[in-house]
Amino acid sequence: MVIQKNSYGNDVTFPVISVILKLWHWNKFVLRNIILSKTHLIFIKNLKAIDMKTKTNWRFNANKEEMSSNLGLHPSQLMVLFEDELKDIYWAEKELIKELPKMINNASSQELIEALENHLAQTQEQISRIEHVFEILGKKASAKKCEAMEGLIREGKGIMEECEEGPMCDAGIISAAQKIEHYEIATYGTLRQFAQTLRINNAAELLEQTLSEEKATDENLSRLAVTAINVEADLEESDEVI
Ligand SMILES: [Fe+2]
Repeated sequence: MVIQKNSYGNDVTFPVISVILKLWHWNKFVLRNIILSKTHLIFIKNLKAIDMKTKTNWRFNANKEEMSSNLGLHPSQLMVLFEDELKDIYWAEKELIKELPKMINNASSQELIEALENHLAQTQEQISRIEHVFEILGKKASAKKCEAMEGLIREGKGIMEECEEGPMCDAGIISAAQKIEHYEIATYGTLRQFAQTLRINNAAELLEQTLSEEKATDENLSRLAVTAINVEADLEESDEVI
């Protein structure tokens, strides 16, 4: 070994070795701490991930429990009802596409004709929306005969056959159309709620859109019943007096 001496002639070999050894131990200490801190960070990160997953699972399970306790239903049972109701309204809307032109042909009030024509166009859109909801569910769109809508349509046909053309028939058409609207409002309201409960938010939005249209149509028909039809009826009475 080469013995090194400082400018005063003292042996500096051992202090140098001692410093090197200290540095080596210190580096090992630093390195170990870095490794430990990194491991600690990874551990904490994993813990957080596990915590998040547990919380999410807990929330999901809580939602399922909440759903079951509120409705007394399992989510899969609610899904069966949702699909069934969707098939029902799909059939109903398709039938309305055939019946609305007949109502338009029998109506006299220009405002009523426009309202029905507007709703016919909306109904086409509503059918497309239902098909979109089926797509979201990963199902092929299919219809199931709706007994209630069949009855309402039959009633509407009966009114048009029996009433005289003019304000009387218009009032009858409005009455039949509003009954149909109320059935649709009830159905879309239920479907929107089912979709929300099942957390199918994009389907819930589409159904909400249709629900708003049905409500607007119903309000418009109510307005026509009060204004257009009554005004025409009043005018007829006035003509008779003159
Ligand atoms: Fe509709």
